[in-house]
Amino acid sequence: MATDNAQSTVSMETLVALCKRRGFVFQSSDIYGGYNGFFDFGPLGAEVKKNIKDAWWDDMVRRRDDVVGLDSSIIMHPKIWKASGHVDGFSDPMVDCKESKLRYRADQLFYAPVILDGEAAGFVAYMEGAETSVIVKQAKKIRDLKGNKEAKLDEAALETAKEFTESTAEERTVTLGPDATAPGTLTEPRQFNLMFETKVGPLADDTAKAYLRPETAQGIFANYKNVVDTGRVKVPFGIAQIGKAFRNEITPRNFVFRSREFEQMELEFFIEPGEENRLKWYRYWIDWCTNWLVSIGLPREGIGKDVHPQEKLSHYSKGTTDLTFAFPHGVQELWGIACRGDFDLTQHQEHSGKGMDYFDEVRKQAGEEPFKYIPNVIEPSLGVDRTFLAVMASAYCEDEVPNDKGQPEKRTLMKFHPRIAPYKAAIFPLVKNKPELVERADALYRRLQKRWNVFYDASGAIGRRYRRQDEIGTPFGITVDFDTIEKDGTVTLRDRDTTEQVRMSEDDLVKFLEEKIEG
Ligand code: GAP
Repeated sequence: MATDNAQSTVSMETLVALCKRRGFVFQSSDIYGGYNGFFDFGPLGAEVKKNIKDAWWDDMVRRRDDVVGLDSSIIMHPKIWKASGHVDGFSDPMVDCKESKLRYRADQLFYAPVILDGEAAGFVAYMEGAETSVIVKQAKKIRDLKGNKEAKLDEAALETAKEFTESTAEERTVTLGPDATAPGTLTEPRQFNLMFETKVGPLADDTAKAYLRPETAQGIFANYKNVVDTGRVKVPFGIAQIGKAFRNEITPRNFVFRSREFEQMELEFFIEPGEENRLKWYRYWIDWCTNWLVSIGLPREGIGKDVHPQEKLSHYSKGTTDLTFAFPHGVQELWGIACRGDFDLTQHQEHSGKGMDYFDEVRKQAGEEPFKYIPNVIEPSLGVDRTFLAVMASAYCEDEVPNDKGQPEKRTLMKFHPRIAPYKAAIFPLVKNKPELVERADALYRRLQKRWNVFYDASGAIGRRYRRQDEIGTPFGITVDFDTIEKDGTVTLRDRDTTEQVRMSEDDLVKFLEEKIEG
């Protein structure tokens, strides 16, 4: 069951172009032609990403009394992934093409009947989202292969496509693959594990096999006992972690939305078992997560909820709600909030032989049974890169403002929340050939730089300098002018969104920025 989201207005092409032009994100290994599914965050992107992670860590860990942090290793004992179910179950059904050697996700592949002069002539397979013109062109390839270029193609029949997972062996022998030149090259769907394998230590055999973690969550479960035994935590409490995760996604796409190396911000929140308690915390975290996204600048109307039907739940889940977002490429999952029950801790107890029971002193004192139990877990799991994409799409705006000559001029601006903006403020001396102005502006820049990431720019007309900062989303422009040095020491502060300017003293400016950036 999904709720509606408002539509995003910026196209993915525009956003990708801006990210490259202004140094937010580059394709990984660009100089070697790129590497599919991997991305590098440039100087501005690295700042935005760090600000997202810092905001999450501050709000999730440092400003709460019931959550502690963790930083576990990426490569862990392979038995962890056996216990968690990832070795046996973390897979997607895939279809291989024996001719092109390409691999497709079976649930994203469709096949449609090709009818020529009213007679069945085979099938064409195509990837979800393919243009009708591409499908028709492919169907005509079958017509050409049959040697009858005059035969009439029934285009309406192409619209009666089915998922490739439903195809029979007989149908596959006459199906033309999306990148094949002859029919019959697609295999039946087979499970393909998404974990990246590696070898640890000097041996090259199977005993050395290990995995790059596909989620940070298992590092938390594997350390649950350590934290309970060494910290002062009491149920309900959470362990939070931010870190890299790796998945050999077959169809990485939509920019940083689905990549092969990404970062997650995950919380495992441990609670007393019981249906009522579980629902209470499940709802609490859905609301908390929604409000957090709004607090970093995402529009509330862009956020929706997708409650997974019972039959589609992951192997560990007793209930999952995705917070969705209206991304430029459509409404998709941003933050998954799952009730994992006691699945993970029970699995690790069985596979490791170490007890995962929690001894509840409070319940014991109150004479309540049971006072020894394996806690249940609510897990809000958020991708940093997807949050980055949502933040970029929400911030992108175009409007018209007067230029230096008072004429209307189009501008592109990124309306980042000050907490997330790569630069918090830009400092400008009005002109660069007056040493007193430059010195004063430089001193202010050095003072602000001690606390925040700020930018100094002395080159070009002041309007041009403002515009450059607007495009990278710097919320405040501070100009040191003649009044600053000759009169009252005040500077002008320009607001990125309204372009309004006010004068204030340097001390008031620091208080103002503190309030806007740190809340
Ligand atoms: N521990 C639970 C878990 O990993 P998931 O739904 O597979 O659940 C959680 O992933 C979040 O991680 C997603 O909601 C998404 O934000 C992010 N994520 C998952 N796969 C991703 C990928 N290939 N690229 C970027 N982000 C991804």
